[in-house]
Amino acid sequence: MKKKNIWMNVNGEWHDLTVTLQDRLIDTLRDQIGLTGTKEGCGEGECGACTINLNGKAVLACLMLSVQADGAQVTTIEGLQNGTDLHPLQTAFLTESAVQCGYCTPGMIMAGHALIKQNPDPDKTTVKTCLANNLCRCTGYEQPVKAVLKAAGEMRRKIK
Ligand code: FES
Ligand code: FES
Repeated sequence: MKKKNIWMNVNGEWHDLTVTLQDRLIDTLRDQIGLTGTKEGCGEGECGACTINLNGKAVLACLMLSVQADGAQVTTIEGLQNGTDLHPLQTAFLTESAVQCGYCTPGMIMAGHALIKQNPDPDKTTVKTCLANNLCRCTGYEQPVKAVLKAAGEMRRKIK
């Protein structure tokens, strides 16, 4: 099977990787780099569990080939925490009880992260629309939406 060397910056660290042309980004992140925070649900672009940020945008790692991420800046859920300090999104998901089984949580948070980067002051409808691509069987969506809104407010306050 044909292999290719690629470079990828993941959570601020460059990785020199050898992948096949068929390797999916989710597998490279989880199996080669060991970042298992990104979850696989459907594996076919329907559930959003595998959402990561690539060059600042939310993408589905199960639908991307690793070679498509050559030279890219990738952020996974592991990249949000600063030492022992949780990211405001992680804190808000906890304090707003937006985590139940937790399987969808990394994808939800990464979707929210990309949204807040693009729109630091999203309204409730915008957050709902954003999270609609992330299936959650437990929370009923109200708490994750509240958590993203709360985190966005927190992040705006920090910038001021
Ligand atoms: S695992 Fe990627 S969208 Fe479901
Ligand atoms: S918290 Fe269980 S699927 Fe969302």
